[in-house]
Amino acid sequence: MQKKYLLAPGPTAVPPEILLAMAQPMVHHRSKDFEPIVASVKEDLKWLFQTRQDVMILASSGTGGMESAIANVLSPGDRIIAINGGKFGERWVKMGQAYGLQVDEIKVEWGRAVDPGLIEQRLKQNPATKAVFVQASESSTGVAHDVKTLGSIVRNASGTVLVVDAVSAMGVFDLKTDEWGLDVVVTGSQKALMLPPGLAFVSLSEKAWGMAEKATLPKFYFNLKRERDNIRKNTTAYTPAISLIVGLQKAFELLKPEGLDGIFSRHGRLARATREAMAAIGLELFAKDSPSDALTAVKAPDAIDAEAIYKTVRDRYGITTAGGQDHLKGKVFRISHMGYADTFDVITAVAAVEMVLKGMGHPVTLGKGVAAAQTVLLKS
Ligand SMILES: Cc1ncc(COP(=O)(O)O)c(C=O)c1O
Repeated sequence: MQKKYLLAPGPTAVPPEILLAMAQPMVHHRSKDFEPIVASVKEDLKWLFQTRQDVMILASSGTGGMESAIANVLSPGDRIIAINGGKFGERWVKMGQAYGLQVDEIKVEWGRAVDPGLIEQRLKQNPATKAVFVQASESSTGVAHDVKTLGSIVRNASGTVLVVDAVSAMGVFDLKTDEWGLDVVVTGSQKALMLPPGLAFVSLSEKAWGMAEKATLPKFYFNLKRERDNIRKNTTAYTPAISLIVGLQKAFELLKPEGLDGIFSRHGRLARATREAMAAIGLELFAKDSPSDALTAVKAPDAIDAEAIYKTVRDRYGITTAGGQDHLKGKVFRISHMGYADTFDVITAVAAVEMVLKGMGHPVTLGKGVAAAQTVLLKS
């Protein structure tokens, strides 16, 4: 018998309360059974997004939410800036190209955060830029980009919007959608919201809705204006992922008593504990200047394949973390501490990494990383 732990940066573990809520008999979506559920989650989504605007609910993975941002705000041939500091930044570039946009790609070294000053410069050079695309948390590298400063820069460019992929950031750390000028914000269900994959959520600022009025890129399923009209009537344009939305209502019942500050500080302490633990083991963190509190990307020791670490942690101890993507494959492994995660998830992950490294003959003092994590977790 092996107990399983899911500590990957998505999908994340789903609490039993949510699993049970989703196991209820199906209800019809155009009915009095379901409309009050949409009415409640749509208000809670505004709380989570820190926005007064509508938050649209799409039956899709996070990438569908990203695509809806492009298709609804832009027109063929529009010029955009796509910040590419990892696998998901690269996705903005590829999507923009697929939609026939002129993509000004800003490559950022993987493991580093973008310098907002660079974006300010680019916008001055190319004032016709219609949108800047970024990740709040780049899950492939464990880096958080400074979307607050980017928001303050893009706010000054009257014809440009800031589009933020917050798939692994929303509900992890502070993202003040309205106050910071985050014009389009996208997230998904399978990260900090503690749900299975299958829902995307998108908000648009007034500035972004203004652009959406004139945008001519083709769209049908991902028509956000149609979704906005429907969510205002407590429904969705097409058949929603009913059980996931029922689960979302339960997720908010669990999250709201903790409060946004409580949620952010829980993620902060788990992330700090993981980072300190890895340093105590003698491992280097991959995110150098701006680590995301959603996950920790760790460099494997030179002589050891990171794939072997995360696979042994999984196969021997039943703990699923993640390996590296693209050129980071074999170089880094990633431990998530977002969503349904708490003190002993971190301790478990750290202890397993120590045991696996020791088993591989790496010089590790067992318990050193665990003690470092405990010290952080006791203090905060
Ligand atoms: C930062 C980020 N953006 C986008 C996505 C894509 O979401 P999905 O896989 O749900 O389409 C992910 C998923 O891992 C992500 O972490």
